Amino acid sequence: MRILITAGPTREAIDAVRFITNHSSGKMGFALAEAAQAMGHEVVLIAGPVNLTPPLVYQYIPVVSAAEMAQAVHANAPSAQVIIMSAAVADYRPAQPIRGKMKKKSGPLTLELERTEDILQSLGAAKQPGQILLGFAAESENLLAYAQDKLIRKNLDFIAANDISVPDRGFGAEQNEITLLGRDGSCRVLPLQDKKVLASALLKLILPAGK
Ligand code: CTP
Repeated sequence: MRILITAGPTREAIDAVRFITNHSSGKMGFALAEAAQAMGHEVVLIAGPVNLTPPLVYQYIPVVSAAEMAQAVHANAPSAQVIIMSAAVADYRPAQPIRGKMKKKSGPLTLELERTEDILQSLGAAKQPGQILLGFAAESENLLAYAQDKLIRKNLDFIAANDISVPDRGFGAEQNEITLLGRDGSCRVLPLQDKKVLASALLKLILPAGK
């Protein structure tokens, strides 16, 4: 099967030298890509700026901004049977990025931000019959309620919820604990473990049996 996976953060330019980003390391998405390729699938990995060596996959597409990620995802989604959005895509970007370097002035600075495209929501709205869509929900409160809301609102088949209020998991960590909610009402806890082991377990739960 062709599996499209996104990983890492995105960077949204403020000016030529500054940007807005987040703490995503890309480790979970890279582990998923490595595990899926090892299972014999064709993996297309689209990644924001990360400090990781890309795994040997069918196709590796590095991107920087949410807009670039959206473009790469939309170009590759129609040929994918499974899409896993593990990237921490920026929800906002500076409305008017400055071409050169912004000079400081006295007093406070107000930066106007505009929404980026919700790539996962677009994918859910355009989902092809049989396509499997997995999203991630990194939450610091109301974990399962917020995850369940995203599962329905974005028309997903699965959502992997992880609690980022606990220090040793989630963004940047080697390990993670995930609660996998399914559209069919299923709820499975994948306990705290190395992201590489977790990635294989997660794939086995979302891929159709025998594939
Ligand atoms: N996502 C996306 N495009 C965005 C933002 C997020 O595709 N612009 C995807 C992520 O890859 C992840 C899921 O959506 O799979 C996260 O859901 P989201 O509701 O966007 O979570 P948050 O960004 O944390 O937003 P919220 O403030 O609603 O919690």
